[in-house]
Amino acid sequence: MRAVDIIAKKRDGQNLTDEELKFFVNGYAAGEIPDYQASAWCMAVVLKGMTEAEATAYTLCMAHSGDVLDLHHIAPFVVDKHSTGGVGDKTTLVVAPLVACHGLPVGKMSGRGLGFSGGTIDKLESIKGFNVSLTTAQFMDMLAKHGVVVSGQSADLAPADGKFYALRDVTATVESLPLIAGSIMSKKIASGADAIVLDVKVGKGAFMHTVEEAEALAKLMVKIGQGVGRRVAAILSDMNQPLGDAVGNALEVKEAIATLHNGGPTDFREHCLTVGGKMLELAGKATNLDEARAMLAESLANDQAWTKFVEWITAQGGDQSQLDNPETLPQAPLVETVTAPRTGYLAAMDAAEIGKTLIDLGGGRLKKGEAIDYGVGIIFHAKIGGKLTVGAPLLTIHANDATKLVAARQRLLNALSWSDTVVAAPPHTLKIIDAV
Ligand code: URA
Repeated sequence: MRAVDIIAKKRDGQNLTDEELKFFVNGYAAGEIPDYQASAWCMAVVLKGMTEAEATAYTLCMAHSGDVLDLHHIAPFVVDKHSTGGVGDKTTLVVAPLVACHGLPVGKMSGRGLGFSGGTIDKLESIKGFNVSLTTAQFMDMLAKHGVVVSGQSADLAPADGKFYALRDVTATVESLPLIAGSIMSKKIASGADAIVLDVKVGKGAFMHTVEEAEALAKLMVKIGQGVGRRVAAILSDMNQPLGDAVGNALEVKEAIATLHNGGPTDFREHCLTVGGKMLELAGKATNLDEARAMLAESLANDQAWTKFVEWITAQGGDQSQLDNPETLPQAPLVETVTAPRTGYLAAMDAAEIGKTLIDLGGGRLKKGEAIDYGVGIIFHAKIGGKLTVGAPLLTIHANDATKLVAARQRLLNALSWSDTVVAAPPHTLKIIDAV
């Protein structure tokens, strides 16, 4: 078999066999197929797609490119969640300890920023000392001792996805239903969770722009997971505006901390209760979502979730003093509040453009492996439906360079649309898919 023939076959819109997919995935993971051929293949998949059978075979090859964990000797039932990627999505930071403090172990492998979307691992790394590079043994040890662990992509678990993920980030090949499904579900299968809640984002700041596309992705992932014996549900959630108010790594950690102290923006808090609630429900800890949400709201109010968060972050090496004093997290030197250019209702926010602005401020990557600035970002003082009078605070930019700050100000103003008449805040949870 030759990589070039497999690329050509997909370019010409033909279906790949299980053997061809295995050859390509394993060849790339082993370093035998170079980045340029893998990039060409990813682009061919973006343009020509995959059948359900190809997507399933691709996912299983990726999952089996490394160890596939069986965690049952450590914990009888482990849960996990995964987002398809959005702007301002810091859900894992809150949901992992929130669910774990109910005695339900959460073992999770997360990613770095991808395209215009942020990544949990980058956010966690803005905390001094936090170690995301765990071996399989360390992952299992953390789970056994603390009931919660979040690792970066490791050399042991789904290593093929680690390589494809970093490549897709910088080759405009993220937006593909089978590549996203394969990337997410290979990690989920490899990291051994019994139940998985998929947070499938829909809208301008997501890789799936319509409910139909998102539903197709959700159903494919649910089917792949159920096919290998996992309990899986998907929540379709709105990403036509950033989630919460903060966009940028350390700023998002601060917002997660505020939420764990029973504060934080309402949309973000509600989202955490829904995603975490579904995890409790899938694990049989609650009989329905309302009951599960109420259990979680209680643990935000009584500090149990916060206590678990501190235990988790410090167990992975994070500096507790930064959690207790969030103002000591990375902070950009230039901070400017931009005011509303007019009176009116905020009608739309181009969340992808906001995500790209963060990258240009230095908070995301344009090339593989690039260093990022954890302190830069944006805080929004209004979201869709908000009424502002001219001159009222609209957003605050945190930058490390005056030229970048000026460019970001213009770009962000252009990313917002206004209306003279009342605009309703959009619904956040759009659909829940339990079975296919
Ligand atoms: N999240 C992932 O882990 N992979 C993707 O491809 C998209 C979102």
